Amino acid sequence: MKIIKVDTYEEMSFTAAQLIIQKIQEKPNAVIGLATGSTPLGLYKELIQDHHNNGTSYKQIRTVNLDEYLGLPTDDQNSYHTFMKENLFQHIDIPEEQTHIPNGQTEHPEAEGQRYEDLIQGLGGVDLQILGIGHNGHIGFNEPGTSFDSRTKIVELANSTRKANARFFESMQDVPSHAITMGIASIMDSKEIILLASGTSKAEALQQLIMGEVTEDSPASSLKLHDNVIVIADKEALSLVDIEK
Ligand code: GLP
Repeated sequence: MKIIKVDTYEEMSFTAAQLIIQKIQEKPNAVIGLATGSTPLGLYKELIQDHHNNGTSYKQIRTVNLDEYLGLPTDDQNSYHTFMKENLFQHIDIPEEQTHIPNGQTEHPEAEGQRYEDLIQGLGGVDLQILGIGHNGHIGFNEPGTSFDSRTKIVELANSTRKANARFFESMQDVPSHAITMGIASIMDSKEIILLASGTSKAEALQQLIMGEVTEDSPASSLKLHDNVIVIADKEALSLVDIEK
């Protein structure tokens, strides 16, 4: 695991954007795995700005998102479909049919998990996956205790995750209890992974990731078993980890 320590959230976002743009230049039809949450917002702003200023094109790029809430209409303000459209897709030249997000409205959850796995395989696998990290070390919506063998599936959200994400909803009751997420094994199939973290609220999760053991109690620790992971984090997120810049 390579760790890039930066000073600020902006620097984290810029650094990640440069790596993605480089990947797109090398492979214009790359499959990019995308994440939601507050963390990648700055990265998406950088990609949009670069698209406008330098013309980086997404016409052949395919994207797959990690997860979606279960039961929220696709056009709900809090669905990850809406998040991706508003924060990235509508500002770049990617054809909508090349963007993929698990279907949180499915009546056949198991079939949807398999459909999504088959879809990713059909695209040739994920070339570069972007990840955030939850306070409890979750990646995607894979909560502590998730098997490292897991594939795309329906999961129940930890109460702490629902609380952390409640800031986007009107009330705690409105936060869905379940989600559909790529599993740990699905994420680990990605050829390259970039994990982003910013702020002191992520310091314990990063301490556990970098200095702790590999254990299913800490989903992100699975990444230590992958040989092409870059962690880009600011100094607050790395404040409990003893590394030089
Ligand atoms: C959600 C998402 C994760 C994300 C995490 C952290 O639960 N499913 O993919 O990494 O939240 O979010 P934030 O970046 O807002 O801290």
